[in-house]
Amino acid sequence: MPVGGALFAAAIVVAAGAFAQNGEPKPASPIYGVTIPDGYRQWELVAPALEHAPLDELRTVLGNQTAIDAYRTGSLPFPDGTVLVKLAWKHVQSPEFESALVPGAATTVQVMVKDSKKYAATGGWGFGRFIDGKPVDEAQHRTCFACHEARVKARDYVFTKLAP
Ligand code: HEC
Repeated sequence: MPVGGALFAAAIVVAAGAFAQNGEPKPASPIYGVTIPDGYRQWELVAPALEHAPLDELRTVLGNQTAIDAYRTGSLPFPDGTVLVKLAWKHVQSPEFESALVPGAATTVQVMVKDSKKYAATGGWGFGRFIDGKPVDEAQHRTCFACHEARVKARDYVFTKLAP
């Protein structure tokens, strides 16, 4: 394929990521313009987490291939193209087994996208928090980097370690 054609094809692929299946632009987070990535439910597990108070949530962090490769080789900072998704649900007692807690209603989907140029002001990370597929307000998005920076700057602003 001539170079122009390859660039054109690449542009279509990039643009396709910005639209939902119904052709509408995907809802993007304020400040960062981060969207929920396609196919993330098929990504590999980084680690689960349990938040027992105040939210009572079960959580799971998933990573795309770039993220998983970086975790496995232990290389920091995470390279551009890394995407991490954190899913959360209320935890409820299993109706079948007394001591088990299982996912109840979904609460948030949170996304971190690494692009060291675009997001240079926030450690190279763009943030998105979604409820029912829709981004939460700008005020909430102002909190993301501050908390991650205060606690895990030395790990490239990422809390979650690859589960053993
Ligand atoms: C008060 C602190 C705090 C704030 C504010 C915060 N986070 Fe986090 N975030 C955490 C902690 C702690 C984890 C580790 C996993 C867990 O305990 O749920 C985490 C994990 C994540 C992860 C998985 C990758 C990682 O770092 O482990 C994503 C994605 C994420 N947060 C996105 C966001 C977004 C988007 C916002 C803003 C809308 C946000 N966070 C605001 C504390 C915070």
